[in-house]
Amino acid sequence: MKNEEVVKLAPSILAADFARLGEQVAEAQKAGADRIHVDVMDGHFVPNLSMGAPVVQSLRRVTSLPLETHMMITNPDLFLEEFVAAGSDSFLVHWEGNYNLDRTVRRIKELGKRAGVVINPATPASVLEEILTEVDLVLVMTVNPGFGHQHFLHSTLSKIQRVRRMVDEVNPRCEVEVDGGVDEETGPLAAAAGANVFVAGSSIFGDKEGVTTAMDSLRANIVGRQGVVRA
Ligand code: DX5
Ligand code: ZN
Repeated sequence: MKNEEVVKLAPSILAADFARLGEQVAEAQKAGADRIHVDVMDGHFVPNLSMGAPVVQSLRRVTSLPLETHMMITNPDLFLEEFVAAGSDSFLVHWEGNYNLDRTVRRIKELGKRAGVVINPATPASVLEEILTEVDLVLVMTVNPGFGHQHFLHSTLSKIQRVRRMVDEVNPRCEVEVDGGVDEETGPLAAAAGANVFVAGSSIFGDKEGVTTAMDSLRANIVGRQGVVRA
């Protein structure tokens, strides 16, 4: 498999212009986005508010791309059905604060959707040990969740390597995704550490040259670095 097929870009609409959301997502799709990342925040789990299921419902009408829903909310179980009905294709749920993660993951699977588990910067890779065989992806937060436009935390790179090793050992089909501060400089570092899915908000939607140019150059910078550590 070629590296460009392995590298997947997931533009995060948190950094989009909400007045032109449909247009921006359509442009991202045309530029080769693999999925659209939707950040859901409740003001409790993270100190910020963002969007809910109605946004997913509107996006469902303008894109055929998978809609990936990052649940930064206190009790994700309460909202899964609503997001599925709106058109979510996959869910990213946090390990932190979820005392029944296995139940949440099982529920997502029962609903016929892909399930991913997310770990924050201070959470060790080892917490994934028991859940890893059950999930389709692991998301390593490369910033503390809650806000776009933050700086990539380089301290997470060694954890990405650990997660990649664990995944290759017990569930090679599982994707390793990174989220936060991913740009032309940090994306290749995460790729070299073993990530293959890259969430990017401000480096795509905030680029002065536009979404297409931003995505082309992000992808070009990442391709070639993916899997360096694994080789
Ligand atoms: C942060 C969110 C990210 C955010 C990334 O809590 O989970 O998805 O949109 O934004 P950038 O790419 O600007 O760091
Ligand atoms: Zn996110």
